[in-house]
Amino acid sequence: MNKVIITHSSEETEKIGIELALSLRDGMVVSLVGEVGTGKTTLVKGIGKGLLINCEITSPSYLLAKEYYGQLVLHHLDAYRIYSMTELREVGLDELLPPAEGVTVVEWADHIAEMDELSDISVTITYLDFENRKVTINTKK
Ligand SMILES: Nc1ncnc2c1ncn2[C@@H]1O[C@H](COP(=O)(O)OP(=O)(O)O)[C@@H](O)[C@H]1O
Ligand SMILES: [Mg+2]
Repeated sequence: MNKVIITHSSEETEKIGIELALSLRDGMVVSLVGEVGTGKTTLVKGIGKGLLINCEITSPSYLLAKEYYGQLVLHHLDAYRIYSMTELREVGLDELLPPAEGVTVVEWADHIAEMDELSDISVTITYLDFENRKVTINTKK
């Protein structure tokens, strides 16, 4: 199923994350694709709120992965500096695809070819202008 939403503020993009969290179950993988500053981390902040995680979600960038605890464990990966599944395997992060417990959300999922196959939900965010973004949500089945 494909859904396209235009958001007019970061709050609206966050709200998509909150709603998306309702459909997340243990073992699920969410891919996020979009250029720098389109709102990937903003959407993850929404997922965090939806999962009742009560600490601030920030970009994992240099850490590659962060873990948060709410209704489900949220594994937040940033593949900005990763260019293949082999590289992910070298740092042991392939274990989170899919995770044994909780859900995994991957920013820069397009850096890893196998992510298409591995993800249950794929979100692509495109920059329209200063406060407008096109958010395309693709759910498997
Ligand atoms: N409609 C929108 N959706 C998401 N972010 C927006 C929107 N309009 C403006 N912004 C701003 O764009 C930036 C998005 O940053 P961030 O979520 O860190 O992006 P990314 O993780 O894709 O690099 C934030 O500063 C946010 O306030
Ligand atoms: Mg980010």
